[in-house]
Amino acid sequence: MMNDILQFKMFKTVAVGLLIISSNVLSSGYKFPDGFMFGASTAAYQIEGGWNEDGKGENIWDRMTRSRPELISDRSNGDVACDSYHKYKEDVALAKDLNLKCYRFSISWSRIAPSGEVHKLNPLGIAYYNRLIDELIANDIVPLVTMYHWDIPQYLQDLGGWVNPIMSDYFKEYARVLFSHFGDRVKWWITINEPKETCKGYSFNGYAPYLHLNQTGYYMAGHTQLIAHSKVYHLYNDEFRAKQQGKVSLSVNGFFYVPKDEQSQDDVDTAERANQFERGWFSHPVYKGDYPPVMRQWVDKKSKQEGRPWSTLPTFTKKEIELLNGTADFYALNYYSTRMVKHGSDADVNYNPDAEFETYVDKSWPVSLAPWIIAVPEGFKRLLVWIKNEYGNPPVIITENGFGDNGTLNDFERISYIKSHLSAALRAIHEDECNVFGYTVWSLLDDFEWMNGYVYRFGLVSVDFNNPQRPRTLKASYGFFKKVVATYGLDDSSSTTHSLKLWLNIFFCLITMYSIYIFYILPR
Ligand code: NOJ
Repeated sequence: MMNDILQFKMFKTVAVGLLIISSNVLSSGYKFPDGFMFGASTAAYQIEGGWNEDGKGENIWDRMTRSRPELISDRSNGDVACDSYHKYKEDVALAKDLNLKCYRFSISWSRIAPSGEVHKLNPLGIAYYNRLIDELIANDIVPLVTMYHWDIPQYLQDLGGWVNPIMSDYFKEYARVLFSHFGDRVKWWITINEPKETCKGYSFNGYAPYLHLNQTGYYMAGHTQLIAHSKVYHLYNDEFRAKQQGKVSLSVNGFFYVPKDEQSQDDVDTAERANQFERGWFSHPVYKGDYPPVMRQWVDKKSKQEGRPWSTLPTFTKKEIELLNGTADFYALNYYSTRMVKHGSDADVNYNPDAEFETYVDKSWPVSLAPWIIAVPEGFKRLLVWIKNEYGNPPVIITENGFGDNGTLNDFERISYIKSHLSAALRAIHEDECNVFGYTVWSLLDDFEWMNGYVYRFGLVSVDFNNPQRPRTLKASYGFFKKVVATYGLDDSSSTTHSLKLWLNIFFCLITMYSIYIFYILPR
């Protein structure tokens, strides 16, 4: 006869055992939800080549790299790049072999309309994208299309580019061409890729068109892009959505900022301000209609201190606020890294001086060859939660995440980076209920990495840029990602070894319970 105390102790032992079993099973078994959109990302100028073929016009990257090669680390350009203009079928076959659900690529505006103006379209350019889209669909791969990934036609730049408000109308008309020609098959649209980075090309020393217009150019370029985005969104609503039933958003990038000292209110406020300048700049307007209040306040204050008659951050009219509000059908998130911050000033061109913060990194965080990419998966998870709280848990697709190295085929660092970030996304989905529905890795191929030419490589597939045929070779990360897509998770063991592991877990837990019983309960 067991007494009550002994029964209670046994009950406790069983409960502890079950807890151990369930946590073991759960932590090893998070899966991506059914239908999760796994994919890979690329961009026109970075992979296509064919820079002046079949009637394509000159864009700002053609102009800058060809006229000022010294600005690019290895003096290279995207004239040929991966030659995807000719080898697109091979690239789609790679996506197919990976079993990707979607492929994110961008359309070169000057291939569609050589000067950017739509009264003179280039039928051969339109035909190219028709072929690419048809090839994807024939292979059951969903096209996810970016309309503008940094390469505006040079003629539009000569008119002022993104600091000329009229660009928003040119962009709208260009978008109309895309919806009309491709919208029957393309259901996922991203108007603008990383608008913040475009702004760098108008301010501090970064990217084409390589202008140095300081804060004024920086914010004006952002303002026009936001208005352009809202015009395209409403164009879709008014003329295409009912028939085409697609979704439209813009992709927003940036570091995630965390307080250097989590206990310091000043650091907490600084991190929040930095995040609003970084992501809120382009997310707040499309979710809430206007710039983040803290950004408005700080830039206005700074402009005043500088003795300017008006703020460098332009103001939206009431009508523009209405038009911007609610113009993201999903959140397209580009994420690579995290920084710790404190109030101060940072000379690094990556950061906006108006936000007044200094950045720090933890020495233990692994750095990639591209020095700005420091792997902080925990920051990624925190960012997903931040987006959830800030914008009402929108559907999120991670449209970029990846690792830059020297192009080795044994890219184990890339595997570890991607794996840890996918694991963070899985935890955000299962533990924080973040509404993440897709992940398109940057990138399918090694490609032209903007100011860094071909120095940093991001592909799952290597491209030999010294060979005119541009042969592709699979890297170790390709095999890794293929397995993730096939298993919907990070447990790369087969189902047999998985269930073996499960039984071993149960077996060891039973042994633990038995030992507790023998050595702890019985002797009392
Ligand atoms: C962001 C950009 O969208 C993409 O074009 C670039 O290659 C990657 N990040 C890596 O730097």
